[in-house]
Amino acid sequence: MNIHILRSKHEIDRVVSNELIQLVKTNPACVLGLATGSTPLGIYGLLVKDHQNNHTSYQSVTTVNLDEYIGLEITHPETYHQFMHRNLFNHIDIKSSNTHIPNGLSQDMIQACLDYDQLLSKYVPDIQLLGIGANGHIGFNEPNTPFDSTTHIINLTQKTREDNARFFNNIDEVPTQAITMGIQNIMDAKKIILIATGASKAKAVHDMISGDVTPSLPASILQKHPNVDIYLDKDAAKLLLEKK
Ligand code: PGA
Repeated sequence: MNIHILRSKHEIDRVVSNELIQLVKTNPACVLGLATGSTPLGIYGLLVKDHQNNHTSYQSVTTVNLDEYIGLEITHPETYHQFMHRNLFNHIDIKSSNTHIPNGLSQDMIQACLDYDQLLSKYVPDIQLLGIGANGHIGFNEPNTPFDSTTHIINLTQKTREDNARFFNNIDEVPTQAITMGIQNIMDAKKIILIATGASKAKAVHDMISGDVTPSLPASILQKHPNVDIYLDKDAAKLLLEKK
């Protein structure tokens, strides 16, 4: 794991967006593994700005997203489908048919999982972006998800629903289930960039880097991936810094 502790969230957004832009320029048919939540918002904003100013083209890029809520209508503003279109896809020249997000509205969710695994076997991310939950989840792989899991349906923990309630009117509106890439799918990415900012992530970050590799902290498996960059601000890194 390569750990980078930067001055600010903005600095992280700048460095990571530059890396993604360089990848798209040098490998126009690359596969980007994308994430939702607050963490990647600034990065997507910078990709859009670069596209507008420098015309970096996403015509041949394919994207695969980590996860999606189950049961929210596709028009609901908090689906990850809407999130990705609102914050990135609508503002760059990517082909809609090249963007992939798990289907949280399938009549047959088991088949939807198998279909997504099939897709992932074809489109292996050159870079997978990740945030981390305060409980150590990656994607929606909650604590004690098996490390060899592939795309599956997950019951969201109370903690995750509480953390995400800020995007909804109240916690009762937060879906109870999601469809997510499994931990094995995430580990198959050629490179992983995980970003964590803010003190609420400090414990999970510390345990991910310095703790045991254990399913009770899903992100700890990243210790075993050969190509991981972790970007932290000082707040998220504070327990690591205290140790030094
Ligand atoms: P956040 O979520 O980016 O909204 O903090 C990260 C995650 O839960 O993986």
